[in-house]
Amino acid sequence: MQYENDRYTIGGIDVRDICREFGTPLYVYDAAYIAGQVARFKAAFAGVPAWIKYACKACSNLAIIQLMRKLGTGLDTVSPAEIKLGLAAGFKPDEIVFTPNCVDFTEIEQAVETGTVINIESISSLEKFARKFGGTVPICIRLNPNISTQVNADKVDWWHNQSKFGISRSQLDTVKALEAAYDLKINGVHIHSSSVIMSPDIFTEGARTVFDIAAGFKHLEFVDFGGGLKVDVGDGNPVIDLPALGQTLENLYSDFCDQVGHRVEIWFEPGRFLVGNAGTLFAECTVIKKNEAVDFVGVNTGFNHLIRPMFYDAYHEIVNVSNPAGPAHTYTVVGNLCEIDNLGQGRQLSEVREKDLIAIKSAGAYGYAMASSYNSRPRPAEVLVMDGQAHLIRKRETYADMIQNMVPLDL
Ligand SMILES: Cc1ncc(COP(=O)(O)O)c(C=O)c1O
Repeated sequence: MQYENDRYTIGGIDVRDICREFGTPLYVYDAAYIAGQVARFKAAFAGVPAWIKYACKACSNLAIIQLMRKLGTGLDTVSPAEIKLGLAAGFKPDEIVFTPNCVDFTEIEQAVETGTVINIESISSLEKFARKFGGTVPICIRLNPNISTQVNADKVDWWHNQSKFGISRSQLDTVKALEAAYDLKINGVHIHSSSVIMSPDIFTEGARTVFDIAAGFKHLEFVDFGGGLKVDVGDGNPVIDLPALGQTLENLYSDFCDQVGHRVEIWFEPGRFLVGNAGTLFAECTVIKKNEAVDFVGVNTGFNHLIRPMFYDAYHEIVNVSNPAGPAHTYTVVGNLCEIDNLGQGRQLSEVREKDLIAIKSAGAYGYAMASSYNSRPRPAEVLVMDGQAHLIRKRETYADMIQNMVPLDL
């Protein structure tokens, strides 16, 4: 979302016009911004044979997945339904990687049948896979390198040794034993951190570790670094310098290839980096309330539509679109759920009046994808602005949608 000539626009269209046409609450995504992020990512890693597999869990609308395909990415999926979405968007099975966590083995069997790249992340699944498929289907191994990212956010810090993700580095001997016993074709090694990588040093440590381990697999074709690249959300926290990261990786990569003796592809699975700042959640101010100490802006959305502030204490910049030049006040912006439902506490916004249009920024990743109809409030519609046009890409949920699977009793 841009602010130009006293108005907020997305892809050149005044956001007030978009919200007038589609109503609020409304998720709006900017296709040109997504294309720019894909291009920035590719440019930063141009020194290595890098492939993007868009982590569609971040925003799994079919139109966004189609857009990614048009932009030349592959796809990272975590469930059979995400694989189906990828196929429906036109991805070839081998452009899709399946990276599930703690799933029933039947999901892995389904993915094998579909022909996607398979990522195995527990010894239990690896044993089952080895017994069923042996070396007939290549696999990637997801590792937990047991490096703490030293960022204290338990919900998103996945490299430490208590994380449920990946096969622990200390279990590598078991992996090797299974590889030998069943002639497994381990052609990929994967790590994924969380969305908190801010320092090239942390990344370098992870890359060194994974390269060291990967070099030990004789069928190696790719190393997958997952996602986890933080974007600037306006909270003043540092973000990683992507070109510098690309340079670091390029330096490590040439030594790695010398060690392995052949070229190995480098994969990434960015979600937030590609779509986080491309999406905005628009809401209307329903109520202005003053308690003794706090001025509240109540809006017609809440953590049912954007759970990140309440769940992760995530920061989302909030602006008053309707009164951008108004005097600044400090407000706490709250949702309309019957719960503590803060979207932003103690924020400076230009004076808010009831009915003003409020924009909650950086909502493109893990926004709609984590939305629910809690409090029996329907989910918002989604719009993609592309080539100067606002396209409805998901209809607003209705009461009928919410109750369609309910089975009333005959009482
Ligand atoms: C395996 C895997 N890859 C990629 C991602 C995308 O992460 P991000 O959106 O932080 O880039 C995730 C997110 O949880 C993930 O679990």
